[in-house]
Amino acid sequence: MQSVSFLLAAAAGAAAYTIVEADLFMHKNIDPVVMPGQYKSHLHSFFGSDAVTTNTNSSAELQAGCTTAYNPNDFSSYWVPTLFYVDGTTYTPVPFNRFSAYYIGINSAEIAIPQNFKVVVGNSSATSQADVNDLAGIQWFCEGDAGETKDAAAFPTTTCSTHLQTLLLFHDCVNEETLESAYSGTQNWNSTYKASNRCPEGMKRMPQLRFSIRYDLRTILPGGWSGTAPFELACGPSYCSHGDFINGWLPEAAENMLNATSKTEFAEVTGPLGGDADGAVCTNPTDADPDNGTDDYATSLAMMGKRKRAVGRYDRRA
Ligand SMILES: *[C@@H]1O[C@H](CO)[C@@H](O)[C@H](O)[C@H]1NC(C)=O
Ligand SMILES: *[C@@H]1O[C@H](CO)[C@@H](O)[C@H](O)[C@H]1NC(C)=O
Ligand SMILES: *[C@@H]1O[C@H](CO)[C@@H](O)[C@H](O)[C@H]1NC(C)=O
Ligand SMILES: *[C@@H]1O[C@H](CO)[C@@H](O)[C@H](O)[C@H]1NC(C)=O
Ligand SMILES: *[C@@H]1O[C@H](CO)[C@@H](O)[C@H](O)[C@H]1NC(C)=O
Repeated sequence: MQSVSFLLAAAAGAAAYTIVEADLFMHKNIDPVVMPGQYKSHLHSFFGSDAVTTNTNSSAELQAGCTTAYNPNDFSSYWVPTLFYVDGTTYTPVPFNRFSAYYIGINSAEIAIPQNFKVVVGNSSATSQADVNDLAGIQWFCEGDAGETKDAAAFPTTTCSTHLQTLLLFHDCVNEETLESAYSGTQNWNSTYKASNRCPEGMKRMPQLRFSIRYDLRTILPGGWSGTAPFELACGPSYCSHGDFINGWLPEAAENMLNATSKTEFAEVTGPLGGDADGAVCTNPTDADPDNGTDDYATSLAMMGKRKRAVGRYDRRA
């Protein structure tokens, strides 16, 4: 198995990119992309615009909030299932060290990420590597440590010397009219089409979002682990890794992102509100819908259970 650091170096060398880091501002049992209007999701951890609610459906709504992203033009909402340290029956959210939204492959992009674009990637009901789409590029590993032979989407079996890290790739093709999206390379190719465009018919290439998330284990698990990792995602085992995105980039900045075409160099995205040096502007982010939903694990389970009794079916999506 190739070491992860080699793979990362190869990826960075092959594609132009920019990065936006963002601070966590809430855990909540909502998913405006998968379960709009409801408070019956498993817990998610949210980054970016604090205007996000269970009803959010547009870029403009996010742009009315304040953002924890370290670029003031980025009002996107980014979320993932909450990661817990499990000690017996006690579930404690694992603190984040760093959440990074990479935008890669910009040299291949034909269009900016469209306003109102939203998507979920990953399989939230996956329980094995076979359930995981290879194109989602899901990996769990110990940052900087020697790789081990295991499923790419499995947690490491020995403790990390620094951070537990995970990666997730989003779609890089989008239909500008319908906002449907896909990974490139998923269509039935013919030689002409392959040469001109690797996206499914009707879609164009856009910058590809990739989450890179580092978790801080030092205070929560100073003794580390050996064997089965004492972690669980709100959706289940590591294989259920997924991520959601609602685009909130100001339109001018989303266009400027297309200028980050160097194959090797990081490029800052500038826009009407400045550049990286001007973020994060939101020092006191708040939940825009504090009276509904929950950030408590046990309560979230109860709220999902309510749905189970109400409709007789446990919905594992989101
Ligand atoms: C959400 O936004 C899309 C356009 O981006 C629109 O077609 C759809 O009707 C909206 N849904 C709701 C519930 O407002
Ligand atoms: C997602 O995982 C489930 C296992 O619960 C599996 O049945 C399903 O085929 C997977 N979906 C995809 C698209 O692979
Ligand atoms: C190749 O695929 C494209 C897109 O589906 C289609 O428009 C074109 O006619 C195809 N060419 C051939 C030679 O089949
Ligand atoms: C990005 O490129 C476009 C088109 O070349 C140009 O008009 C714009 O000024 C550039 N933006 C920045 C921030 O350099
Ligand atoms: C959210 O909370 C507010 C204030 O308690 C309440 O008025 C509203 O009906 C709630 N919304 C939903 C969808 O439950």
